[in-house]
Amino acid sequence: MHYSDLAKRIVDELLRPDGSDKLRPVHTIGIGATGYFEPSEVAPQYCKADHFITPRTKATLRFSNGSGSKTQHDDWSDVRGMATRFHLSDGTDTDLIMMTLPEFFARTPEEFLEFTLAAKPTEVHWVSPWKKIWQMLHLIPPQPDPYPDEEISPNEGAIKFANENRYSQLAVFQAAAIGAPVSYLRAAYHAVHTFVVTGEDEVERWVRFTWQPIDGVKNENPLDPPGADYLQGRLRDRLADHTSRFTLMMQIGEVGDAFDDSTKPWPPHRQRVMMGTLTLDHAAEDTKAQDDYFEKLSFNPMLLTPGIRASEDPVLHIRKEAYAYSSGKRDATPCPFSGGAEDDQ
Ligand code: HEM
Repeated sequence: MHYSDLAKRIVDELLRPDGSDKLRPVHTIGIGATGYFEPSEVAPQYCKADHFITPRTKATLRFSNGSGSKTQHDDWSDVRGMATRFHLSDGTDTDLIMMTLPEFFARTPEEFLEFTLAAKPTEVHWVSPWKKIWQMLHLIPPQPDPYPDEEISPNEGAIKFANENRYSQLAVFQAAAIGAPVSYLRAAYHAVHTFVVTGEDEVERWVRFTWQPIDGVKNENPLDPPGADYLQGRLRDRLADHTSRFTLMMQIGEVGDAFDDSTKPWPPHRQRVMMGTLTLDHAAEDTKAQDDYFEKLSFNPMLLTPGIRASEDPVLHIRKEAYAYSSGKRDATPCPFSGGAEDDQ
């Protein structure tokens, strides 16, 4: 696969000084899980993809913290990721990658590079209470206080960038206030981009997907943090003797909605269809073999299947190259679009 200079540059710039080029440059800390997806009765009317017509499809998942730091900080406010691979009945796979942020920081890959450069982690410092009050009065979001052992953070650069670039404001402000979930199973995740689904009747619809946890959304109290390492243990404990479920919700866009721009939300009253239920029944064990397997796994948001195609969103399209290049760079199990490490020119 050919990687554009832009895709390579973005991936290279995403790497933090406290990250590792042998690990993912973002969503670095994570844990695997497995389960199965069952479509709802109405799902095939809207999408004829294999997993919406087959009664049960096996799934492999990875939950993650959004940060590119290789040090685990589960209790820090951060975006979380949920990458799902559906193992289809004909032996092929399709991926659905989501995060807890409903909108993205940039409309184009070029803007995302600018954002990445502006939000490079810098040394943290406290902002005085007076300056925060001044900022709030001027409707400028105040910078969050650093955590006790936090040394560098993207916050200052990201907030400055948002104050100068209107399109990134929603995502940056949401990210700043996102908090830490009590469990990876108690967060809602969004695919952010628009996809185009084709129903049994060949009608195409422009849609956005969300996973909603049946256990409900709940964050930790930031004043009483549970420690830096609780999310993986809680996932294992919960799935050791119970299952946990998410519903796949699909919002249907209408003329005038932003189909190719994931910085813009759609009106909240758009029609939503429940497309199916994901049941998680197993978390990766705390062993080197399981860790290595999920560490080396490579998802790609453009690994689609007949019945679902990408919108024209240029950010979604560059992710195909970016994830494949990143997978090669970190010597992972080759991403479906890459030849692995030897194919990273
Ligand atoms: C231009 C935009 C983006 C770029 C360049 C980018 C880049 C990357 C890269 C390089 C990785 C690591 C891939 C690997 O080594 O396997 C990654 C992982 C990830 N990204 Fe993005 N990303 C972008 C947008 C998004 C968006 C919009 C979402 C949410 C829908 C997202 C969610 C995730 C998640 C959940 C992972 C972890 C996947 C896993 O567990 O393997 N990213 N991203």
